[in-house]
Amino acid sequence: MAFFLAVACIYIISLAVLVLLEASRRSRAGKGDRLPPGSLGLPFVGETLQLYSMSPKAFFSSRLEKYGEVFKTHVLGCPCVILASPEAAKMVLVSQAHLFKPTFPPSKERMIGPHALFFHEGDYHLRLRRLVQGWLGPDALRALVPDVEAAVASTLGWWEGRVASTFHTMKRLTFDVGVVTIFGGRLAEHVKEELRRNYFVVEKGYNSFPIAVPWTRYSRAIKARQRLGAIMSGILSARRAGGHLGDDLLGALMRYCDDGGAALSDDQVADNVIGVLFAAQDTTASALTWILKFLHDHPKLLEAVKAEQMAAYEENDSGRLPLTWAQTRAMPVTHLVILESLRMASIVTFTFREAVEDVYYQGFKIPKGWKVMPLFSSIHHSPKFFEDPQRFNPARFKVTPRPGTFLPFGSGVHACPGNDLAKLEMLVLIHRLVTTYRWDVIGSSDAVTYSPFPVPKRGLQARLRRAPPTATVSAATAAAAAPEQEEGARGREHPGASRTTKQRAQS
Ligand code: HEM
Repeated sequence: MAFFLAVACIYIISLAVLVLLEASRRSRAGKGDRLPPGSLGLPFVGETLQLYSMSPKAFFSSRLEKYGEVFKTHVLGCPCVILASPEAAKMVLVSQAHLFKPTFPPSKERMIGPHALFFHEGDYHLRLRRLVQGWLGPDALRALVPDVEAAVASTLGWWEGRVASTFHTMKRLTFDVGVVTIFGGRLAEHVKEELRRNYFVVEKGYNSFPIAVPWTRYSRAIKARQRLGAIMSGILSARRAGGHLGDDLLGALMRYCDDGGAALSDDQVADNVIGVLFAAQDTTASALTWILKFLHDHPKLLEAVKAEQMAAYEENDSGRLPLTWAQTRAMPVTHLVILESLRMASIVTFTFREAVEDVYYQGFKIPKGWKVMPLFSSIHHSPKFFEDPQRFNPARFKVTPRPGTFLPFGSGVHACPGNDLAKLEMLVLIHRLVTTYRWDVIGSSDAVTYSPFPVPKRGLQARLRRAPPTATVSAATAAAAAPEQEEGARGREHPGASRTTKQRAQS
């Protein structure tokens, strides 16, 4: 009897141990080895076709609704985890940034140049970033105001009297500002033209399918990139021969030495110049285009902005004196419009990183080598952080958004060092535009295309015409008017908010 009791006890204890072990294994698996919900799609292609057949916004929001703020997918040949909450974005970009590295497809890295700072981490990245940031900081920008004003005047002068794509016109402006920021005023006109011509071929190739067979955009872009390298070599040699490297970003890159006294190679300098031009151009041009659209669609708000800008115009002897840095820092209504445009348009919809080891987040595993994509646009359009998020309402920025919920320029070690320059371009352009011109939007501007940044359909076709400056209301009235601008808005919902480009094109 005692024997049977002992066997039964051993049996029950063993069973209990086994049950406990299994429970512990399951609980560990539950905590760590579970991949986020979502679909990896078809073998090889994953969900890439779905991504391309919809707008990125529609692709991501349909999955967000189904799976929540952390989900997996497989696009452009890579398994990815999409992260759509401020906490997750902070984890990837700031608090656990060491577990993720910047990652770009090799074809794109080749096009810009592998030494560009945004492909790197650690000491090389940190030092170059500090250098670039110094040339885009307040002191440098204060000195740059007249150059930005001249570039704005020249761009709008070109546009005056003709119908053109706002986006392409703004690209002319942002290229010119990029060039003057990097090269100072020292680039001969014919060299600048050569640079422009080849740069635009490279840019087209960057956004095309990467097949390096003759006559494709991609292979033409590779050749243009080689020519850009040669143009940069010529510029560097001329500066060295002239004995003056220059008081500009290029000069600073040429003088740079690391702790061991090693200078940058010519390739490293060229890749970083092209990298900065690239990071600066389409992003800012897209933001400027949206600002013109939003101002056009909200006439009351346009009046408020105009009143604020007219005050500066009159202070400057009816525009005869140049705009000053101090004036650009004191345009509160215009600044609110810029912030709301950046939120609504969310130019950089998401960014990419790659997990350098297995990472665990909220009970899910992000396997080593997988891409992670913090999704800025869905944070900017979440009703949890922005009330009535599809409504264009600059007044909401009178209250600072919750930390981590407004990330138009990213966050952490790779956050945009050019954000103040971009804002300066926006302020100066708006000043000149509303004090001197009117613009008529031609055709529908409601659909959105991605190139790769969101832009109104056909780049927002518009005609620019000169209009005599007229003071309307005082700046104080303007500031008071901003929150009430909703009345009389020509379109309230952000066009990309709920319908795809295709659906809009059909309607
Ligand atoms: C509205 C205009 C702009 C927007 C929305 C924008 C947005 C961004 C974002 C989101 C990032 C971070 C990307 C990431 O974390 O992966 C970034 C990085 C960067 N941006 Fe901008 N940007 C703008 C204009 C500019 C301008 C005018 C410049 C330079 C003149 C510039 C230069 C850079 C550079 C060099 C980086 C890489 C920084 C690093 O890796 O450390 N950007 N930008």
